[in-house]
Amino acid sequence: MISQTLREARRYEEATDQMITAEERPAFHLSTRVGWTNDPNGFSYYQGKYHMFYQYHPYATYWGPMHWGHAVSKDLLHWEYLPAALAPDAPYDRDGCFSGSAVELEDGRQLLMYTGVLRMPQLDGPSLELQTQCLAVGDGTNYEKYAGNPVLDAKDIPEGSSCYDFRDPKVWKASDGTYRCVIGNRPADGSGQILLYSSPDGFSWKFEKVLVANRNRYGLMWECPDFFPLDGKQVLLTSPQDMLPEGLEYHNGNGTLCLIGTYDEETETFTEEHNQAIDYGIDFYAPQTVLTPDGRRVMIGWMQNWDTCGLQGQKNEQKWFGQMSLPRELSVKNGRLYQRPLRELDALRRNKVSYEDVVFTDTIRLDGIEGRRLDLEIELSADGEEVYKKFAVRFAQNERYHTGLSYRPQEHILKIDRKFSGSRRAVIHQRRSEVKSENGRLKLRIILDRFSVEVFVNDGEKVVTATVFTGQEAQGVSFFASGRVRMNVVKYDLTGE
Ligand code: FRU
Repeated sequence: MISQTLREARRYEEATDQMITAEERPAFHLSTRVGWTNDPNGFSYYQGKYHMFYQYHPYATYWGPMHWGHAVSKDLLHWEYLPAALAPDAPYDRDGCFSGSAVELEDGRQLLMYTGVLRMPQLDGPSLELQTQCLAVGDGTNYEKYAGNPVLDAKDIPEGSSCYDFRDPKVWKASDGTYRCVIGNRPADGSGQILLYSSPDGFSWKFEKVLVANRNRYGLMWECPDFFPLDGKQVLLTSPQDMLPEGLEYHNGNGTLCLIGTYDEETETFTEEHNQAIDYGIDFYAPQTVLTPDGRRVMIGWMQNWDTCGLQGQKNEQKWFGQMSLPRELSVKNGRLYQRPLRELDALRRNKVSYEDVVFTDTIRLDGIEGRRLDLEIELSADGEEVYKKFAVRFAQNERYHTGLSYRPQEHILKIDRKFSGSRRAVIHQRRSEVKSENGRLKLRIILDRFSVEVFVNDGEKVVTATVFTGQEAQGVSFFASGRVRMNVVKYDLTGE
């Protein structure tokens, strides 16, 4: 049975998505079908396809009552929209179907687990949002909410913890065929914690334990957890709110956190060994991962950040808001998280142009290197004994605009700067991160789509992501050196076709 609210959303998206042309969308990143999206949800492989659901307000380009949008893909780069999967139409999720995840049940159906939100007006202050965990079961297109919803509520959280910050279940099947999920929550100390639950069948859930406690270390409330084994280690990804900066590792506001450690399955104990940000750019939040049929752990994040949502200007000036990052293959090396662009991206490469051993001390342009949908591989080193002072590459460039990435090897600073990308808003436009090098050696892989840049540093040791809404006529690329830089560069166009 499809509710009136869902039927309306489906009718609306069907009738309005033709108003957005292919050129007005990213070429190989998933964007919202219409309206607004934030977090990726229910990222899964089901019945021979990848499924991506997303936080969705179809009716406007700003956040509103959350639905779940839905798209499928064979290669994670070309997406086909399916009808919206969930609408806020039940007594327990009337004010929103918040983030969640998906898993395949024993009988072949797909289970969606999400947070239902119910706003509770208060006499003496702003209303509170009661958050509970809910289920919907479906066939890959249509989903029916479970009659037993909500399956987890205030009774199922540790004493003193908040039922108003209890969200974003990430579910998986354990090796013994039972189910587990992790959920973000706020304990009495006002920061965040990740709760672990178990279920024999996916429907009846039981609180197991506090898996990880923030104890006010990394921001406050932890949103959108994901938890998985990788390369002999165990990884927890989460997106903390209200972070304070720590050197160049974490920055103010909504950030991302990766904890790497070990996991004892017997006692379900996670022991932390290392912490880092997931992305060191400006626009990346709430990532989710999927395990591909060939065993790769692939992550996609919301290529946006709550603190920079104002970048595009006035509400309703734009036709859509919100896109997902490139799919990134994850690995753990030397105890750190590494990311590389999904290898399927290589199939979109066309028109190779390459240069070797270009030595320069000033601004240069190279014939054949320009465009807005690009895959640029750059290798730098010092030329001679002396390490250069600064290297920069500018792209999305014309007389008026450019976005740039610069590197100062002596200070170990890599900086992204999109100040000159046409933005008329005072949101963050620059971010620095620490990248060490020997003799100025640095490897960059820069992926440009129409409205974004993602920079993979030193084979994925760090990634720097930013949205860039410079007009598409700004196609130029130039390079700059202060001191003597030696550079190899390979360029491909990325077609999206
Ligand atoms: C993270 C988040 C989630 C929540 C959703 C609501 O971006 O705040 O915690 O489920 O967005 O849209």
